[in-house]
Amino acid sequence: MEQKETWGSKLGFIMAAAGSAVGLGNIWKFPYTAGNNGGGAFVIIYLIFVALIGFSVMLTEFAVGRRKNLAAVGAYKAESRSWTFAGVIGVLAGLIIMGFYPVVGGWALAYVFKVFTGLMTSPDMGAAFGGFITATWEPLIWMVIYLALNIIIVSKGVAGGIEKAGKVLMPLLFFILIFITIYGFTLPNAMEGVKFLFKPDFSKVTGSTVLAALGQAFFSLSLGMGCMITYGSYLDKKENIVSNAAYVTIMDTAVALLAGLAMFPAIFSFGMEVAAGPGLVFGVIPTIFSKLGTFGMILSGLFFIALTVAALTSSVSLLEVVVAYFIEERNMGRKKAVAISSTMMVIMCVLSSISLQGGLTIFGQTIFDVFDLLSADVFMSIGGILIAVFAGWKIKKEDLKNEVTSGGEVKFGLFSFWYAIVKYVIPVVIAIVAVSGIMARFETGKGPIMIIGLAIMAILAIFSRKL
Ligand code: TRP
Repeated sequence: MEQKETWGSKLGFIMAAAGSAVGLGNIWKFPYTAGNNGGGAFVIIYLIFVALIGFSVMLTEFAVGRRKNLAAVGAYKAESRSWTFAGVIGVLAGLIIMGFYPVVGGWALAYVFKVFTGLMTSPDMGAAFGGFITATWEPLIWMVIYLALNIIIVSKGVAGGIEKAGKVLMPLLFFILIFITIYGFTLPNAMEGVKFLFKPDFSKVTGSTVLAALGQAFFSLSLGMGCMITYGSYLDKKENIVSNAAYVTIMDTAVALLAGLAMFPAIFSFGMEVAAGPGLVFGVIPTIFSKLGTFGMILSGLFFIALTVAALTSSVSLLEVVVAYFIEERNMGRKKAVAISSTMMVIMCVLSSISLQGGLTIFGQTIFDVFDLLSADVFMSIGGILIAVFAGWKIKKEDLKNEVTSGGEVKFGLFSFWYAIVKYVIPVVIAIVAVSGIMARFETGKGPIMIIGLAIMAILAIFSRKL
């Protein structure tokens, strides 16, 4: 076994955890999911989930990971072998997300170059984007380059590799988003966009909206699949995980809201489509900046650089979950673990990227959407229930208290409240949301994918004692 690494500094862990959380989920997925789900009501339900469930689950994952200093699978297994499956489901979820995330990371990377090579004068950004992602080779090449960057970082070990990258580019991303927001507010009709984002119309809310909001909260905060367990396992016993969880939750949510505020005023002002789907950010941002000449071109370039780095600090955390499994549970060296994990990811990403050209579908859904649906709707909600039940019912209350408060050194006055939420509220709320949401998915033809997801989990649960 290699020696267990730990984070280089106090700031290192927060930066890494925030780097994992802040990514495509905030800037790419949040705006288009809000757009697809009618805006305000979705956003408010998402915020409630973040505050009630997201923060608590993040704290739980940190505590469970640090308790045994073991990553996703090991942390469960060390407590009881019959819980191994919960960790394994997480590793598989990480693999599935990495089956489409690098495709989008590749788009972001490609756009860094495209904004300087003619994209900004294109009359229709939406069409330009559509043409790019359905081209035969181009998106694949960018995806492979993006994945290669991940491999380089993770082979060096996360603690060394990503602490530095985030320190510069996260603030850059923040500033650019603030700049776009201020500019967007000066446009005619800007307030329409703000209203869309924050004025709820609860009459349109369905089980499907609520599940989408829960999935978004989990995806954006990197929860429900052992990612924060794995990062917590590299954490020093003295760190205050309560405040760390709070900072990361607040930072992540602030970036998502800011991304929404940066985009929707312009979307309404320019009369663009709110429900444009995954192409939203790639259409809106260049459109906004195309009005600002050379200055706009440079800012666009910086925006997509920052987006690529935000995506990288997230995807390395996903890759790390899978890699840590091979290192800790299969006794592999880091290099070999990275090679095996990334080979699987390349294959999955090629399939999901090609599926966007049309033709390659499962039950009418592109492979890209299948991976997205499986991870956000099925794996993460069940993963959320599992970690909450594990912490609430399997670990002794005293032990958990000890871990969360670093042996009494950290004051956490709300411990009992948090504990009750984890033990009772979260499992019940997620179960209700998941059942009604999954049923609602049947009405839009996505039922078979849900069944496949549940079946995969059942099979894993049966065979996981061997893993
Ligand atoms: N949270 C990241 C984002 O918003 C994606 C991510 C990284 C993730 N690690 C994860 C999602 C673990 C779910 C689970 O882009």
